[in-house]
Amino acid sequence: MITATTSESIKDIQADAVVIGISGKTLTGAAAELNEATQGGLQSLIDSEKAKTGSGKVTSWLEPQGIQASTIVIAGLGEQPTAGDCYKAGGAAAKALAGTKLDTVAFYFPGIDGVLLESAVAGSVVGCTGQELHKEKPSLHPPNQILWATGDGAAVNAGTKIGDGVNLTRELVNQPPNYIYPESFANRAAELAELENVTVEIWDKEKLLAENCGSLLGVAQGSDFDPRLVILRYQGNNSENPSMAIVGKGVTYDSGGLSLKPSDGQKTMKCDMAGAATVVGTIKSIAELGSPCHIIGLVGLVENMISGNSYRLGDVLTSRNGKTIEVLNTDAEGRLVLADVLDVTLGLKPDRIVDLATLTGACCVALGLDIAGLFTNNQSWCDQIIESAAEVGEEVWQLPMTKHFSEQLKSKVADLRNIGAGRWGGAITAAKFLEEFVDSTPWTHIDIAGPAFADSAKSYIDGGASGTMVRTLVNIARGL
Ligand code: BES
Ligand code: MN
Ligand code: ZN
Repeated sequence: MITATTSESIKDIQADAVVIGISGKTLTGAAAELNEATQGGLQSLIDSEKAKTGSGKVTSWLEPQGIQASTIVIAGLGEQPTAGDCYKAGGAAAKALAGTKLDTVAFYFPGIDGVLLESAVAGSVVGCTGQELHKEKPSLHPPNQILWATGDGAAVNAGTKIGDGVNLTRELVNQPPNYIYPESFANRAAELAELENVTVEIWDKEKLLAENCGSLLGVAQGSDFDPRLVILRYQGNNSENPSMAIVGKGVTYDSGGLSLKPSDGQKTMKCDMAGAATVVGTIKSIAELGSPCHIIGLVGLVENMISGNSYRLGDVLTSRNGKTIEVLNTDAEGRLVLADVLDVTLGLKPDRIVDLATLTGACCVALGLDIAGLFTNNQSWCDQIIESAAEVGEEVWQLPMTKHFSEQLKSKVADLRNIGAGRWGGAITAAKFLEEFVDSTPWTHIDIAGPAFADSAKSYIDGGASGTMVRTLVNIARGL
């Protein structure tokens, strides 16, 4: 439970712990009050740098004198806090406190309001939730109650709903691949139909066959789990066409297929449905916020496996839009799945499309593990995403879509081949492949192979799935 409170001072509030957000060296508002109550103790910890105030840094102060709560967490916001700093500060404090079972935690971030407060609240919701879904004794315990000291109850409410969406995405990604496979993922997505103005349509294998989704079905055929395609519709108002379609790669496990990945490469490949999970988390948040927009989400769900019926190198697949594809690497499967999902998306006539996919290791080589790659056929749509990401503090970087990359996708036997000529610029070749399936609709592809999943924890979030891009997309949807 997360609520806004205006009634109590930081000194007197009945809570197990208080969190004080600190930006810069001059203490104001609740920070000044806390400093007074602790007889200058807060200021001296900061001045001596025993408590660091950089963004994402937290310092726990146990059994402080002069206040009700038995713990203070000093959460650094950096000098001029951005939404990203606030998300990290909220997350790091919540994560530090979640190490013990607590009833009530109260957050005070003086001087922060609106968008920044929303981000801080979302961070606190995400930070106390971990990846230990199958442990008898998990190490993170969300407190029973989180209080945010502010008069802006709407921001607390919105931040909570955004954090919940991020956490749904994270949970779906963190679930092991024997728990989340196409059918079970689709069932989880179907739960969104309980929300107002949301409807869910699920295509099973038979329907996918009838719809000629030969590219997606090719990838799926080696698995004992049948594929699914899920269409989520959120209609917050009556505008005729959806203003945005959010499309996600949902490879519930990517073994690489016959182009088998080595063990090390396979270990984290439950994360290969992160794009699809981002779609589900985003639509949940948008629907709970009740935003006045019309948005659709489409996810292609398959498992990329090996069997006597796996698709082969040399196979030619016929995609839903009629283009034929020569398969030269079964590990370049995400683009094959998305090809058909993008074509289904076009049929629903959205004004613009954004897709999310853990598509290429090459994108990690280019941008590292914290930055998502952007690729577009429409600069102003891409700029809108860049701007939105900056507003909420998520890191993205655009890569070029130079024409000559398409040359590499020419096949001797089919309309296209599914890999480029060599490894260089592999994130771009993959994006160029997707571009073949979006026609002239404004489209931006987000390669989240780097930021979707982390091997180890950060100060503000547990290891595993990050829920990257949910906040950026929700922010866009709220402005449509
Ligand atoms: N799912 C992987 C990409 C990936 C790699 C995601 C690391 C997350 C972390 C994708 O299906 C893949 O295997 N891509 C190949 C493409 C290649 C065969 C052209 C890759 O990146 O090696
Ligand atoms: Mn692959
Ligand atoms: Zn993959």
